[in-house]
Amino acid sequence: MAQEVMKHADQELIDMATAVRENAYAPFSNFRVGAALETDDGDMIDGCNVESASYGLTVCAERVAIWKAISQGKRKIKHIAVVADTEELTPPCGVCRQIIWEFGGDIPVILANLKGKTEVVQMRDLLPRAFDTKFLK
Ligand code: THU
Repeated sequence: MAQEVMKHADQELIDMATAVRENAYAPFSNFRVGAALETDDGDMIDGCNVESASYGLTVCAERVAIWKAISQGKRKIKHIAVVADTEELTPPCGVCRQIIWEFGGDIPVILANLKGKTEVVQMRDLLPRAFDTKFLK
């Protein structure tokens, strides 16, 4: 996986994602996740995972943040941070990788845990040979 240097704004996103993780609604898995993204116009938007008694309806923190951005009229993500309480850093699930690609393309994804461990990975490494709108033309 490509390893990129963390930038100052990355820490801000990690802090936001860590804070919003507290709002996670995860009574079934007890696995709380926070995400925070920056849009191309510099807005920062957060999201936490939201589970359902009908388990399959669960939405990950990354998609909650992206849906919030889209509903605010934002269409382009510059980077996104994901925070969970795991020793090995938690990456976005497969579904979220597709959605991050959709609105960000090959952007950096900042992974972090609660102990200050961080890693920056590129979307092209998380989702090689992605399907996207270019195939629909
Ligand atoms: N989850 C996320 O919110 N983001 C991830 O990157 C991985 C998984 C959530 C979904 C579910 O609420 C819980 O974590 C366990 O899968």
